[in-house]
Amino acid sequence: MEITLTSPLDMHLHVRDGEMMRLVAPLSAQYFAGAVIMPNLVPPVVDEQSLRAYAARVKNAADDASFLPLMTLFFRNYSESDLRVAKTIPGFFAVKLYPAGVTTNSDMGVQSLRTAEPTLRSMEELDIPLLVHGESHGFVMDREAEFLPAYRYLAEQFPKLRICMEHITTAAAAHVLDEYENLSATITLHHLEFTLDDVLGTAMKPHLFCKPIAKREEDREALLQLALSAHPRVMFGSDSAPHPQHRKECYDCSAGVFSAPVALAGLAKIFARHRALDKLQAFVCDNACRLYGLHPPTKTVLLRDTPLHVPMQYCSYGQSVVPLYAGEQIPWSASIVRE
Ligand code: DOR
Ligand code: ZN
Repeated sequence: MEITLTSPLDMHLHVRDGEMMRLVAPLSAQYFAGAVIMPNLVPPVVDEQSLRAYAARVKNAADDASFLPLMTLFFRNYSESDLRVAKTIPGFFAVKLYPAGVTTNSDMGVQSLRTAEPTLRSMEELDIPLLVHGESHGFVMDREAEFLPAYRYLAEQFPKLRICMEHITTAAAAHVLDEYENLSATITLHHLEFTLDDVLGTAMKPHLFCKPIAKREEDREALLQLALSAHPRVMFGSDSAPHPQHRKECYDCSAGVFSAPVALAGLAKIFARHRALDKLQAFVCDNACRLYGLHPPTKTVLLRDTPLHVPMQYCSYGQSVVPLYAGEQIPWSASIVRE
Protein backbone atom coordinates (compact mmCIF):
# COMPACT_ATOMS: atom_id res chain seq x y z
CA MET A 1 0.00 0.00 0.00
CA GLU A 2 1.19 3.54 -0.62
CA ILE A 3 0.02 7.13 -0.67
CA THR A 4 1.53 10.35 -1.97
CA LEU A 5 1.34 13.56 0.03
CA THR A 6 1.84 17.00 -1.46
CA SER A 7 3.71 19.57 0.62
CA PRO A 8 3.10 18.30 4.17
CA LEU A 9 3.28 20.99 6.84
CA ASP A 10 4.15 20.77 10.51
CA MET A 11 2.10 23.52 12.12
CA HIS A 12 3.95 23.39 15.49
CA LEU A 13 7.67 22.69 15.65
CA HIS A 14 10.57 23.42 18.00
CA VAL A 15 13.92 23.48 16.23
CA ARG A 16 15.83 25.25 19.07
CA ASP A 17 19.06 26.99 18.10
CA GLY A 18 22.80 26.44 17.70
CA GLU A 19 24.14 22.89 17.44
CA MET A 20 20.81 21.29 18.32
CA MET A 21 19.15 23.16 15.47
CA ARG A 22 21.85 22.04 13.05
CA LEU A 23 21.02 18.46 14.03
CA VAL A 24 17.20 18.61 14.05
CA ALA A 25 16.17 21.21 11.43
CA PRO A 26 17.27 19.11 8.43
CA LEU A 27 15.26 16.17 9.80
CA SER A 28 12.08 18.25 9.45
CA ALA A 29 13.09 19.90 6.18
CA GLN A 30 13.69 16.48 4.67
CA TYR A 31 9.99 15.58 4.47
CA PHE A 32 8.05 18.72 5.34
CA ALA A 33 7.46 21.63 2.96
CA GLY A 34 7.18 24.02 5.88
CA ALA A 35 6.75 24.33 9.61
CA VAL A 36 5.57 26.83 12.20
CA ILE A 37 8.70 27.55 14.26
CA MET A 38 8.15 28.10 17.98
CA PRO A 39 9.73 31.19 19.60
CA ASN A 40 10.49 29.83 23.10
CA LEU A 41 14.25 30.26 22.92
CA VAL A 42 16.25 31.66 25.83
CA PRO A 43 15.73 34.61 25.58
CA PRO A 44 12.50 34.30 23.56
CA VAL A 45 11.99 35.79 20.10
CA VAL A 46 10.29 39.08 20.99
CA ASP A 47 11.31 41.73 18.49
CA GLU A 48 12.02 42.49 14.88
CA GLN A 49 15.73 42.02 15.22
CA SER A 50 15.61 38.65 16.97
CA LEU A 51 12.89 37.43 14.60
CA ARG A 52 14.87 38.35 11.49
CA ALA A 53 18.04 36.82 12.89
CA TYR A 54 16.34 33.61 14.02
CA ALA A 55 14.54 33.23 10.66
CA ALA A 56 17.91 33.45 8.90
CA ARG A 57 19.49 30.86 11.23
CA VAL A 58 16.56 28.45 10.77
CA LYS A 59 16.73 28.80 6.97
CA ASN A 60 20.44 28.18 7.07
CA ALA A 61 20.19 25.13 9.34
CA ALA A 62 17.29 23.58 7.39
CA ASP A 63 19.38 23.98 4.22
CA ASP A 64 16.51 23.10 1.89
CA ALA A 65 15.07 25.51 -0.64
CA SER A 66 11.72 23.73 -0.51
CA PHE A 67 11.23 24.20 3.25
CA LEU A 68 9.27 27.24 4.38
CA PRO A 69 9.88 28.29 8.01
CA LEU A 70 6.77 30.11 9.30
CA MET A 71 8.17 32.30 12.04
CA THR A 72 6.47 33.32 15.28
CA LEU A 73 6.91 36.00 17.90
CA PHE A 74 6.63 35.17 21.60
CA PHE A 75 3.58 37.01 22.99
CA ARG A 76 4.25 40.14 25.02
CA ASN A 77 2.50 43.46 24.95
CA TYR A 78 3.29 44.73 21.46
CA SER A 79 2.28 48.13 20.12
CA GLU A 80 0.35 48.29 16.89
CA SER A 81 3.39 49.65 15.14
CA ASP A 82 5.55 46.72 16.43
CA LEU A 83 3.03 44.37 14.86
CA ARG A 84 2.88 46.34 11.62
CA VAL A 85 6.65 46.02 11.35
CA ALA A 86 6.50 42.28 12.15
CA LYS A 87 4.07 41.80 9.27
CA THR A 88 6.69 43.13 6.84
CA ILE A 89 9.29 40.54 7.89
CA PRO A 90 9.54 37.75 5.31
CA GLY A 91 8.32 34.47 6.79
CA PHE A 92 6.52 36.06 9.76
CA PHE A 93 3.39 34.05 10.50
CA ALA A 94 1.88 34.43 13.98
CA VAL A 95 2.26 35.30 17.65
CA LYS A 96 2.49 32.48 20.21
CA LEU A 97 0.98 33.03 23.64
CA TYR A 98 2.21 31.08 26.65
CA PRO A 99 0.71 31.59 30.09
CA ALA A 100 3.77 32.46 32.24
CA GLY A 101 5.57 29.39 33.57
CA VAL A 102 3.36 26.64 32.15
CA THR A 103 6.04 24.98 30.05
CA THR A 104 9.65 25.04 28.83
CA ASN A 105 11.08 28.58 28.56
CA SER A 106 7.75 30.30 29.17
CA ASP A 107 8.71 32.37 32.22
CA MET A 108 8.26 35.57 30.21
CA GLY A 109 4.76 34.51 29.19
CA VAL A 110 1.45 36.20 29.93
CA GLN A 111 0.41 36.81 33.56
CA SER A 112 -3.14 37.94 32.77
CA LEU A 113 -5.18 37.84 29.58
CA ARG A 114 -6.84 41.16 30.51
CA THR A 115 -3.56 43.05 30.23
CA ALA A 116 -2.99 41.37 26.86
CA GLU A 117 -6.19 42.84 25.40
CA PRO A 118 -4.71 45.85 23.52
CA THR A 119 -2.19 43.61 21.76
CA LEU A 120 -4.86 41.04 20.94
CA ARG A 121 -7.06 43.85 19.55
CA SER A 122 -4.24 45.02 17.28
CA MET A 123 -3.58 41.46 16.15
CA GLU A 124 -7.25 41.08 15.31
CA GLU A 125 -7.19 44.31 13.28
CA LEU A 126 -4.00 43.36 11.48
CA ASP A 127 -5.16 39.76 10.93
CA ILE A 128 -2.19 38.19 12.70
CA PRO A 129 -3.00 34.66 13.91
CA LEU A 130 -2.75 33.86 17.63
CA LEU A 131 -1.34 30.48 18.67
CA VAL A 132 -2.05 29.48 22.27
CA HIS A 133 -0.50 27.04 24.70
CA GLY A 134 -3.75 26.38 26.57
CA GLU A 135 -2.89 25.18 30.06
CA SER A 136 -3.50 26.51 33.57
CA HIS A 137 -1.23 26.02 36.59
CA GLY A 138 -3.62 23.49 38.16
CA PHE A 139 -3.40 19.74 38.71
CA VAL A 140 -1.52 18.29 35.76
CA MET A 141 -4.43 16.25 34.33
CA ASP A 142 -6.82 19.23 34.61
CA ARG A 143 -4.66 22.00 33.15
CA GLU A 144 -6.12 21.98 29.65
CA ALA A 145 -9.71 21.70 30.90
CA GLU A 146 -9.12 24.62 33.26
CA PHE A 147 -7.92 26.76 30.36
CA LEU A 148 -11.03 26.18 28.23
CA PRO A 149 -12.92 29.22 29.63
CA ALA A 150 -9.96 31.33 28.47
CA TYR A 151 -10.39 29.98 24.93
CA ARG A 152 -14.09 30.85 25.09
CA TYR A 153 -13.25 34.35 26.31
CA LEU A 154 -10.72 34.87 23.51
CA ALA A 155 -13.04 33.50 20.83
CA GLU A 156 -15.92 35.73 21.99
CA GLN A 157 -13.99 38.94 22.67
CA PHE A 158 -11.97 38.76 19.44
CA PRO A 159 -14.36 37.24 16.90
CA LYS A 160 -12.18 38.12 13.90
CA LEU A 161 -8.93 36.90 15.48
CA ARG A 162 -7.81 33.53 14.15
CA ILE A 163 -7.00 31.54 17.29
CA CYS A 164 -5.27 28.18 17.24
CA MET A 165 -5.67 25.86 20.23
CA GLU A 166 -2.25 24.25 20.15
CA HIS A 167 -1.66 20.53 20.78
CA ILE A 168 -5.11 19.75 22.18
CA THR A 169 -5.27 16.62 24.33
CA THR A 170 -8.84 16.31 25.61
CA ALA A 171 -12.35 15.51 24.40
CA ALA A 172 -13.45 18.68 26.21
CA ALA A 173 -11.15 20.81 24.02
CA ALA A 174 -12.56 19.13 20.92
CA HIS A 175 -16.03 20.27 22.00
CA VAL A 176 -14.93 23.89 22.53
CA LEU A 177 -13.32 23.88 19.07
CA ASP A 178 -16.72 23.15 17.59
CA GLU A 179 -18.40 26.01 19.45
CA TYR A 180 -16.50 28.83 17.69
CA GLU A 181 -15.71 29.33 14.01
CA ASN A 182 -12.63 31.42 14.82
CA LEU A 183 -10.96 28.56 16.73
CA SER A 184 -8.76 25.98 15.05
CA ALA A 185 -6.56 23.32 16.63
CA THR A 186 -3.38 21.38 16.13
CA ILE A 187 -2.92 17.77 17.21
CA THR A 188 0.37 15.93 17.69
CA LEU A 189 1.28 12.43 16.63
CA HIS A 190 2.03 11.40 20.21
CA HIS A 191 -1.37 12.49 21.50
CA LEU A 192 -3.02 10.43 18.74
CA GLU A 193 -0.91 7.43 19.79
CA PHE A 194 -0.58 7.45 23.56
CA THR A 195 -2.42 7.94 26.82
CA LEU A 196 -1.01 8.58 30.28
CA ASP A 197 -0.89 4.80 30.71
CA ASP A 198 1.78 4.60 28.02
CA VAL A 199 3.79 7.34 29.71
CA LEU A 200 3.55 6.02 33.28
CA GLY A 201 1.39 2.92 33.50
CA THR A 202 4.02 0.20 33.15
CA ALA A 203 7.42 1.85 33.33
CA MET A 204 8.11 5.57 33.31
CA LYS A 205 8.95 6.63 29.74
CA PRO A 206 10.78 9.95 29.85
CA HIS A 207 10.78 10.26 26.06
CA LEU A 208 6.96 10.33 26.10
CA PHE A 209 6.81 13.01 28.80
CA CYS A 210 5.54 16.29 27.40
CA LYS A 211 3.22 19.20 28.09
CA PRO A 212 0.31 18.93 27.90
CA ILE A 213 0.65 15.43 29.34
CA ALA A 214 -1.16 12.64 27.44
CA LYS A 215 -4.62 12.04 28.91
CA ARG A 216 -7.23 9.24 28.98
CA GLU A 217 -8.31 6.78 26.30
CA GLU A 218 -11.58 8.66 25.70
CA ASP A 219 -9.56 11.82 25.07
CA ARG A 220 -7.25 10.08 22.62
CA GLU A 221 -10.31 8.73 20.81
CA ALA A 222 -11.82 12.22 20.51
CA LEU A 223 -8.58 13.49 18.97
CA LEU A 224 -8.47 10.56 16.57
CA GLN A 225 -12.03 11.30 15.55
CA LEU A 226 -11.05 14.88 14.64
CA ALA A 227 -7.92 13.92 12.70
CA LEU A 228 -9.32 10.87 10.92
CA SER A 229 -12.43 12.72 9.80
CA ALA A 230 -10.28 15.58 8.44
CA HIS A 231 -12.16 18.11 10.54
CA PRO A 232 -11.72 21.33 8.50
CA ARG A 233 -10.24 23.34 11.38
CA VAL A 234 -7.80 20.72 12.63
CA MET A 235 -4.17 20.56 11.51
CA PHE A 236 -1.14 18.44 12.21
CA GLY A 237 1.40 20.08 14.52
CA SER A 238 4.04 17.66 15.75
CA ASP A 239 5.16 19.75 18.75
CA SER A 240 8.41 17.90 18.15
CA ALA A 241 10.46 19.30 21.03
CA PRO A 242 13.99 17.91 21.18
CA HIS A 243 15.97 17.99 24.40
CA PRO A 244 19.49 16.60 24.78
CA GLN A 245 19.38 12.92 25.79
CA HIS A 246 20.91 13.71 29.19
CA ARG A 247 18.08 16.22 29.86
CA LYS A 248 15.47 13.50 29.23
CA GLU A 249 17.16 10.59 31.00
CA CYS A 250 17.73 12.26 34.34
CA TYR A 251 16.23 13.15 37.70
CA ASP A 252 14.20 16.15 36.46
CA CYS A 253 13.33 15.19 32.89
CA SER A 254 12.46 18.06 30.52
CA ALA A 255 9.08 17.98 28.78
CA GLY A 256 9.03 17.26 25.06
CA VAL A 257 8.72 14.42 22.55
CA PHE A 258 11.14 14.46 19.61
CA SER A 259 8.95 13.14 16.82
CA ALA A 260 9.99 15.11 13.71
CA PRO A 261 11.96 12.38 11.93
CA VAL A 262 9.19 9.78 12.30
CA ALA A 263 6.15 12.04 12.15
CA LEU A 264 4.83 11.22 8.68
CA ALA A 265 5.55 7.48 8.97
CA GLY A 266 3.82 7.47 12.37
CA LEU A 267 0.78 9.29 10.99
CA ALA A 268 0.60 6.89 8.04
CA LYS A 269 0.58 3.97 10.49
CA ILE A 270 -2.37 5.46 12.40
CA PHE A 271 -4.39 6.60 9.38
CA ALA A 272 -3.84 3.23 7.62
CA ARG A 273 -4.90 1.30 10.73
CA HIS A 274 -8.17 3.25 10.67
CA ARG A 275 -8.57 3.04 6.86
CA ALA A 276 -8.44 6.83 6.63
CA LEU A 277 -5.32 7.41 4.51
CA ASP A 278 -7.46 9.49 2.15
CA LYS A 279 -7.90 12.04 4.96
CA LEU A 280 -4.19 12.51 5.66
CA GLN A 281 -3.57 15.18 3.00
CA ALA A 282 -6.19 17.45 4.58
CA PHE A 283 -4.74 16.91 8.06
CA VAL A 284 -1.10 17.53 7.13
CA CYS A 285 -1.51 20.29 4.56
CA ASP A 286 -4.80 21.32 2.97
CA ASN A 287 -6.58 22.51 6.11
CA ALA A 288 -3.65 24.72 7.09
CA CYS A 289 -3.31 26.14 3.57
CA ARG A 290 -7.01 27.00 3.46
CA LEU A 291 -7.21 28.43 6.99
CA TYR A 292 -4.14 30.64 6.61
CA GLY A 293 -3.88 31.18 2.84
CA LEU A 294 -0.50 29.41 2.71
CA HIS A 295 1.29 28.44 -0.49
CA PRO A 296 4.12 26.12 0.59
CA PRO A 297 6.80 24.96 -1.83
CA THR A 298 6.01 21.77 -3.69
CA LYS A 299 7.42 18.69 -2.02
CA THR A 300 6.09 15.25 -2.86
CA VAL A 301 6.35 12.58 -0.19
CA LEU A 302 5.68 8.91 -0.79
CA LEU A 303 4.44 6.95 2.21
CA ARG A 304 4.69 3.22 1.78
CA ASP A 305 4.03 0.23 4.03
CA THR A 306 7.65 -0.85 4.10
CA PRO A 307 9.07 -1.00 7.64
CA LEU A 308 11.21 1.76 9.07
CA HIS A 309 13.87 0.93 11.66
CA VAL A 310 14.02 3.93 13.94
CA PRO A 311 17.49 4.69 15.32
CA MET A 312 18.13 4.67 19.09
CA GLN A 313 19.30 8.26 18.84
CA TYR A 314 20.36 10.95 16.39
CA CYS A 315 23.87 12.23 17.08
CA SER A 316 25.89 14.97 15.46
CA TYR A 317 27.47 18.35 16.24
CA GLY A 318 28.14 17.03 19.76
CA GLN A 319 24.38 16.52 20.39
CA SER A 320 22.45 13.34 21.08
CA VAL A 321 18.66 13.23 20.94
CA VAL A 322 16.28 10.28 21.22
CA PRO A 323 13.39 10.09 18.76
CA LEU A 324 9.87 8.79 19.26
CA TYR A 325 9.75 5.02 18.56
CA ALA A 326 13.54 4.76 19.20
CA GLY A 327 14.81 1.24 18.48
CA GLU A 328 11.43 0.12 17.15
CA GLN A 329 10.35 -0.94 13.72
CA ILE A 330 7.30 0.93 12.44
CA PRO A 331 5.32 -0.44 9.51
CA TRP A 332 5.40 2.64 7.27
CA SER A 333 8.20 4.74 5.86
CA ALA A 334 8.52 8.01 3.97
CA SER A 335 10.62 8.96 0.96
CA ILE A 336 10.84 11.98 -1.31
CA VAL A 337 9.61 11.79 -4.89
CA ARG A 338 12.05 13.81 -7.01
CA GLU A 339 10.28 15.56 -9.87
O1 DOR B 1 6.43 19.18 25.96
C1 DOR B 1 6.62 20.34 25.60
N1 DOR B 1 7.84 20.77 25.23
N2 DOR B 1 5.59 21.19 25.60
C2 DOR B 1 5.77 22.51 25.37
O2 DOR B 1 4.82 23.23 25.42
C3 DOR B 1 7.11 23.07 25.13
C4 DOR B 1 8.01 22.05 24.62
C5 DOR B 1 9.46 22.47 24.67
O3 DOR B 1 9.76 23.59 24.24
O4 DOR B 1 10.28 21.68 25.09
ZN1 ZN C 1 5.40 23.29 21.57
